[in-house]
Amino acid sequence: MRCYVRLMCKGDVDQVAGIDHEAFPTIWPPINYKREMQNRLAHYVVACDEERTIDEAEIEASSERSSTGLVSRVRRLLNHNRLFGNKPFSSTKEYIIGFTGFWIMADEAHIISIAVREPCRRQGIGELLLISSIDMAPKLNARSITLEARVSNIAAQRLYYKYGFAQTGLRKGYYIDNREDAVLMTTEDVTSDLFQARFKQLKQIYFERWGIPLPQFVH
Ligand SMILES: CC(C)(COP(=O)(O)OP(=O)(O)OC[C@H]1O[C@@H](n2cnc3c(N)ncnc32)[C@H](O)[C@@H]1OP(=O)(O)O)[C@@H](O)C(=O)NCCC(=O)NCCS
Repeated sequence: MRCYVRLMCKGDVDQVAGIDHEAFPTIWPPINYKREMQNRLAHYVVACDEERTIDEAEIEASSERSSTGLVSRVRRLLNHNRLFGNKPFSSTKEYIIGFTGFWIMADEAHIISIAVREPCRRQGIGELLLISSIDMAPKLNARSITLEARVSNIAAQRLYYKYGFAQTGLRKGYYIDNREDAVLMTTEDVTSDLFQARFKQLKQIYFERWGIPLPQFVH
């Protein structure tokens, strides 16, 4: 798959909310991505398919899926945007296949979410998104990166282990939907020469395998 990553913008909110809902259907309340776009601590990137665009109907469907049945029905009934003068963002036409985001808190980057559309998984997109976060974090003065993953989410944990995360804790009953435990995973100092040398190697291997150019974010 030919794709690229870029910083998320307001026009991406509906597609990102749709991907979030597909990946985390039981998380309630879902992340409010409109609000996240105003959050100065938050940094999001999206991966886009180079060969596909999305039309209005698909964006609408994706946005509806991300609301619960009741909320979306009420929204439609009230024609929420028109009545409340809440002008919708003009949606991007690029076809987003995955996203990730983290918050910078003091000298730590905390990954809030990472997800790839189901049909696009196992093609290096999740890895590309994680590489983007690891690239950005030290530029935003973070020294370590941390996240939680369900103990049952082996796919995600393998991705994080690959990039030097280690289990540093266990949060009992962290997920409210099924009281599942979370493993807390953290990197070493991402600004250290050792970490950066290993990261450079991994990026090289990634590029040779997938041929996807790596992002250059300027901050
Ligand atoms: C986790 C997720 C983002 C991975 O995205 P992806 O694009 O499929 O992953 P990639 O193809 O880039 O794989 C990168 C690495 O992740 C690991 N991995 C990904 N999927 C895996 C699977 N099904 N089984 C085992 N390992 C897996 C592997 O280590 C893989 O490296 P490899 O190809 O050298 O084996 C994706 O499965 C997803 O969106 N899941 C639902 C949301 C979610 O659980 N997010 C994580 C919350 S903590």
